[in-house]
Amino acid sequence: MKIGIIGSGYVGLVTGACFAELGHDVLCMDDNDEKIAILKAGQVPIYEPGLDELIHANVEEGRLVFTSSMKDTVQKSEILFVCVGTPSKPDGEADLSAVETVGKRIGEDLNDEKLIVEKSTVPARTARWLGEIIQSKNKKRIPFEIAVNPEFLSEGTAIHDFMHPDRIVLGVSSQQAASHLVSLYEPLNSPILVTDIESAELIKHASNAFLAMKISYINAVAQICEKTGADILKVAKGIGLDSRIGTAFLNAGIGYGGACFPKDLAAFVHLAEEYGYDFKLLKSVAEINLNQRKAPVQKLKEIFGDLTRKTIGILGASFKPNTDDLREAPSLEVIQILLQEKAEIKVYDPAAMENMKKLFPTLYYARDPYDCSSGCDALLLLTEWQAFKHLNLLKIKKSMRQPVLIDGRNLFDPSRMSRLGYQYYGIGRPSPSLAETSSQKTLSS
Ligand code: UDX
Repeated sequence: MKIGIIGSGYVGLVTGACFAELGHDVLCMDDNDEKIAILKAGQVPIYEPGLDELIHANVEEGRLVFTSSMKDTVQKSEILFVCVGTPSKPDGEADLSAVETVGKRIGEDLNDEKLIVEKSTVPARTARWLGEIIQSKNKKRIPFEIAVNPEFLSEGTAIHDFMHPDRIVLGVSSQQAASHLVSLYEPLNSPILVTDIESAELIKHASNAFLAMKISYINAVAQICEKTGADILKVAKGIGLDSRIGTAFLNAGIGYGGACFPKDLAAFVHLAEEYGYDFKLLKSVAEINLNQRKAPVQKLKEIFGDLTRKTIGILGASFKPNTDDLREAPSLEVIQILLQEKAEIKVYDPAAMENMKKLFPTLYYARDPYDCSSGCDALLLLTEWQAFKHLNLLKIKKSMRQPVLIDGRNLFDPSRMSRLGYQYYGIGRPSPSLAETSSQKTLSS
């Protein structure tokens, strides 16, 4: 099929490259000429493992073409996927201005029957609104249909997530649209759920909000573990073995970030309020998450009191491993608080350094983790990059002014860190003396 992707960002590029890989002819469009020029020059403007190779292979085969022409994309495609950004407004409402602009342009450029698929994460009832916008500019009364196909791609595993989805959700209002889209996704051999349009839009919000809720729940339990001497890793394992709960998304830490969870949660709360429902549960999920980001600095203040001129090393800045994406990363808030406390900050991240320099030009950007830890009064691990798991922790400790390490992602084992001579703090982990005592008790009983 001839597919047009409108918006070549994280979702659009992965979706376009994967559809090309499945054998379709894909036009990936973006109104950012610089981004299209980079893509045409054979570079990929986002850090997503495997995306470079997938794009190059399909451009080579002539199945994937980049353009800044909306007209070409609309007129040469049978199916259009709208993948533009829907960032949060200050009050949490999703900003649909990009979707509106695209809708008007599609209406103006329609040349023959089209299926227009909303893939961007949008509040329920947006698809109907998009259809009205398109129709308002559709002077030639060309027939078209709107459908909804939310994405469930996680950054860092987006290609795998596209090719091996848990489910495909299709919100349609006709059998013809259903069969078109089912035929697109059938080769993936995954469950395909065909629903009405509003349900498909809500499934996306409800899914992300539920995952964020799991994270805030386990982080709240971690707070109680710290007070009772329990170990959140054991508690999470114990509850996750219940198949109704499951083990995923129960990793306690400094909380969730990224371009989706915070935004989708805020949009869902705002959407609920628009329809007269006060979504208190999700407000608490967001509040717990924001408080979790303050935990590492509160711990530092308990240890050092005044942080003025204390040198703090930050290991990991991206919102999760295997991405350079800093959007809503917990590290940004931690750094802002540390700057307010007049601490000196050194940063190392395997992929996000260039993006960090744009946000915080005055910080010290280390060559590697050992350059980062050198001379520090404390280290904060904020992203659980696999590379950090294999650090020479003795070398790190010797390079520091004081062996204080706050592990915001519970990457390390408290007992091992204690044996290495660190003053180690995890999230929801017992302090090493407590952990050792409890294991001795088990042995003796
Ligand atoms: C998420 C959803 O997983 C995906 O389905 C949706 O399409 C987009 O939003 P993403 O934001 O890319 O994907 O990353 P994800 O792996 O979900 O992690 C989100 C945040 O939650 C990260 O900051 C991560 O560190 C945090 N997280 C995740 C936890 O704190 N604990 C966990 O157990 C899991």
